Amino acid sequence: VHKIILDCDPGHDDAIALLLAAHHPAIELLAVTTVAGNQAVEKTARNALKVCSLAGIHHIPVARGMEKPLVRPSEYAADIHGVTGLDGPHIPEPDFTLAPQHAVDLIIDLLSHSEDPITLVATGPLTNIATVLIRAPHLKGKIKAISMMGGAIGLGNTTPAAEFNIWFDPKAACQVFDSGIPITLIPLEVTHQALATPDIIQRLRASRRHIANFSADLLLYFAESYKQVFGFAAPPVHDPCAVAAVISPDIIEGQMMRVEIETEGKWSAGRTICDVYHKLGRAPNARVGTSLYVARFWDMVIDTLLTYA
Ligand code: BDR
Ligand code: CA
Repeated sequence: VHKIILDCDPGHDDAIALLLAAHHPAIELLAVTTVAGNQAVEKTARNALKVCSLAGIHHIPVARGMEKPLVRPSEYAADIHGVTGLDGPHIPEPDFTLAPQHAVDLIIDLLSHSEDPITLVATGPLTNIATVLIRAPHLKGKIKAISMMGGAIGLGNTTPAAEFNIWFDPKAACQVFDSGIPITLIPLEVTHQALATPDIIQRLRASRRHIANFSADLLLYFAESYKQVFGFAAPPVHDPCAVAAVISPDIIEGQMMRVEIETEGKWSAGRTICDVYHKLGRAPNARVGTSLYVARFWDMVIDTLLTYA
């Protein structure tokens, strides 16, 4: 069983990642920490709390983290996730409260007190994790690995060059990629294969279970956003891929390579420079996903969502 902390910015696909992490038997979810990204951190924290309440996930602390990127100002993704960060289905008010600690303090505490190393799963910008590394570099050895959704080998989705999570806080991403911690990077090349096609949404609906139907509602909103903004016929459900890669690393084909983060470029800030052909002559620092076993992925996600009432 993998002990993980999910650091996220829910976010429709983050919410599905959370539900997958909280109920998959191969994972012990220690905490949900939230960061500014898709929306302001007040909102992403509240969304995480609401999703946990709705799904009966009451035994796990949910903490609010960094409210802006290390250096640049925040620019949220309301075009994709709406003004709340989780627009679409009505979600009741949460029935428990946020952890009193800041997310960064909570992560530091959990790392310091855990006997086993912990895997960090990041599905938002890397500001919380970079801040942990800056404040507590001695705890690096307690981080078994970082599995993150972010970046792209090729084109971006927020600028032509950059994917949202890395673009939002490139300096934080740079800290993380320079840390020496084993990294699995799940870029857009992988997540654009995890499409919530109508048959996937139908499988969730058919169960008539509450959380499966709630997930279908989230995916319908997400589908409409991706149609409007990108003209996609079905939305890529990015974030659960980073959880799936911890549960079953071989659900993703990947390659070890050097990844550098462009922090300054006029047109390319936030780009993940993936050295596919070893041009830089630098030691690899990440396993970069290149493709996904799509049917296995959806079976894993749907089977887990169906374990909720
Ligand atoms: C990433 O950006 C966010 O909009 C999604 O939640 C995902 O983490 C995709 O680029
Ligand atoms: Ca996200």
